[in-house]
Amino acid sequence: MFNAAVVTVSDRCFRGERPDSAGPVVAELLKAAGYQVVRTGLVPDEQPKIEQLLREIAGSGSVQLLVTTGGTGFSPRDVTPEATLAVCTRLTPGIPEAMRYASLRITPRAMLSRAQAGIRHGTLIVNLPGSPKAARENLEAVLPALAHGLEMLSGRPADCAAEPPEI
Ligand code: MTE
Repeated sequence: MFNAAVVTVSDRCFRGERPDSAGPVVAELLKAAGYQVVRTGLVPDEQPKIEQLLREIAGSGSVQLLVTTGGTGFSPRDVTPEATLAVCTRLTPGIPEAMRYASLRITPRAMLSRAQAGIRHGTLIVNLPGSPKAARENLEAVLPALAHGLEMLSGRPADCAAEPPEI
């Protein structure tokens, strides 16, 4: 079983002006997929604060998958992708490619998500958009393939020839 963390990035949720609805949706999806959600966090749309939390969680050594939700769009304060790029040492572009590929079948606005994904230490960081619907659709598009990557990231032998799950 892998440990996961869910970080919600939102000024309005951070100020208490609206409840965090996407974070719990993401956490439930991860739990249903067999992850243990060991950490949740809420930060405003400020790059240094996002980076700090991502670094702290990845540095804990006990979280294999860190999923963020929010701050991937075009508004001037949407900086989650920039924070993610700043802390990752290796990028995993196939993950956001797959999310946008799947999401474009649902809405042309999927192209407006600037979500990134990458690796810091032993942690895979994946950005999701901020609405509960978009977060769910994007995560569901990639979740079946993530465990295989996390096995490899953890240094365990992973059988790439084994039948992949249906996506
Ligand atoms: N992807 C899916 N699957 N479904 C959606 O409804 N919304 C899009 C996009 N990705 C959407 C989606 C929209 S409208 C935006 S603006 C971007 O995600 C960025 O969202 P964010 O700013 O909340 O991160």
